[in-house]
Formats: sequence, C-alpha cells, structure tokens
Amino acid sequence: MATTPAENRPIVDIRTLSLIFKAADKPVTALDGIDLRINSGDFVSLIGPSGCGKTTLLRVIADLEQPTSGDITVNGLTPEAARLKRAYGYVFQAPALYPWRTVERNVTLPLEIIGLDKTERQRRSAQQLALVGLAGFEKKFPWQLSGGMQQRVSIARALAFEPDLLLMDEPFGALDEITRDHLNSQLSRLWRTTGKTCVFVTHSISEAVFLSTRIVVMSPRPGRILDVIDCDLPRERSLEMRESQRFQDIAARVRHGLAEGHSYDE
Ligand SMILES: Nc1ncnc2c1ncn2[C@@H]1O[C@H](COP(=O)(O)OP(=O)(O)OP(=O)(O)O)[C@@H](O)[C@H]1O
Ligand SMILES: [Mg+2]
Repeated sequence: MATTPAENRPIVDIRTLSLIFKAADKPVTALDGIDLRINSGDFVSLIGPSGCGKTTLLRVIADLEQPTSGDITVNGLTPEAARLKRAYGYVFQAPALYPWRTVERNVTLPLEIIGLDKTERQRRSAQQLALVGLAGFEKKFPWQLSGGMQQRVSIARALAFEPDLLLMDEPFGALDEITRDHLNSQLSRLWRTTGKTCVFVTHSISEAVFLSTRIVVMSPRPGRILDVIDCDLPRERSLEMRESQRFQDIAARVRHGLAEGHSYDE
C-alpha cells in the first residue's frame, strides 16, 4: 500500500466520526457522521447554532472527549499521542489566567510544568507576547489588563509550546465589536506569518469569513456538517475587505446554510 508523503498528510483527518453522550434521561448524539480533513496552513472555522457540537468536535481533536465510533488522526497520530507530544495549543472561551501570576508567568506556566529552563521560558514568553502585541506587559497582572488583552495572553500561552496546530473555542465571543475587529486582524496576521493551522469556533458569520480558508457549517441534534465553504479571499486580509462583493457572497452562503439547518419546531 502506498504511504502518503508527510507534507500531503492532513493535520486533522476525521472519518465518519460520531459521539453520543450517555445522559441520564436519553442519549445525546453530539456528533454524527463527521468527515473533515484539515490541511497544513488551513484556517478552518466551525460555525453553527448553540448545541450543534462545535466544542465537542474541538475537544475530540484535543483528546478531551472520546468518539463513540469513526476514526481521527492529528498530525498522523491518535489524538492521545498528539496530545502527549504537545502537537496543539488550546484557547478556551474564557482566558482562565491565574490572577496571582504576572502575564509572563501565566504564559510560562505550562513550560515550567514540562521542565524548560528559565532562559528558554522567558525567551518563548517574550516572543509569543510580542506576536500578540503585548510586548512590555510581561510584569503586569491579569487584573490590570482589559478582557481583550487577557484573551491575547491566553493565545500567547497556547503558542508557548510552539504547536503547529491552534484550537480556539470562541476566543473573542465575550468582546465588543471594535476590540474583536482588532483581534481578528491580529490573529489573521499571526496565522499568515507563522503558517500555523487553526481550527476556530465562532458564532459570527463575518468573523468566520474574515479569518478562514474554509468554513464548516454545522447543524444540531444530531450534530452534523451541512456545508463546507471555501473562503477564497486573498491570504492577506483587511477589515475593508468585508465590504467586497466576494466577502458578501461567501457570508450569504454561510447564512443560508445556517438557516437551512435551523429548526424552529423544537
Ligand atoms: N459532557 C456532556 N454530557 C452530556 N451532554 C453533553 C456534554 N457536553 C456536551 N453535551 C451535549 O452535546 C451537544 C453539543 O454540545 P457542544 O458543547 O459541543 O455544543 P456547541 O456547538 O459548542 O454549543 P455552544 O455554541 O453553545 O457552545 C449539546 O446538546 C450538549 O448538551
Ligand atoms: Mg461551545
């Protein structure tokens, strides 16, 4: 059997994957027959109504949930092996920073746990904080920062392992629109300049179109993929692009997909 060369291998490869949560009353099919391949350098957004399985899918990739059936590989490995090799960084919806540690020492905490020496920890922290636009804030405490800045610290922390794959669950969901625009521009630049592969959960159509190379539209009960939309805008994105016809057309297709999957009878 011919083997696939490493460079052509998808970073995430999911085949007919299902996940059923066994609840006390009746089981919940959170994911049903999911097929998805994410290639190196892709920026894939998962969009869909509340409860359609976006977080569950991200958690399966991160080995935080076990599928009931189907196959998944991350970097060609089982999710467990990929997790043990620290193949990905995970950004949660809430920044989850320790208030008694400085910004720098929040970013370096996971590096302390894996036993990196202090010089290397500080080098990585400085590098990642600069990438998210927080150079000079190393000695501040989280409570001295705005919500958007705290979320950027949590992105720097996820980047500190230097993973090729970044998993983000609605990282900007709680922020105002102007701050979100700013962070979207910054994240887009970070993605473009570092060549990382990103899987990003959002409820915002315009955020998904702005950031992504592909948009996965999901529907709930059972959680399925309804549509996968190529977002063939130039890699270098500007906020003004949102007014372009191409941007509007892609956004309209996402909106239609979401409307089709939405059931009002429950
Ligand atoms: N640990 C669990 N046990 C039982 N059911 C669960 C569990 N986690 C999630 N679910 C159910 O699985 C479905 C998918 O949940 P999930 O959190 O993945 O949705 P989501 O798309 O991320 O929603 P939201 O946009 O609200 O964050 C929901 O019906 C939810 O109630
Ligand atoms: Mg969720």
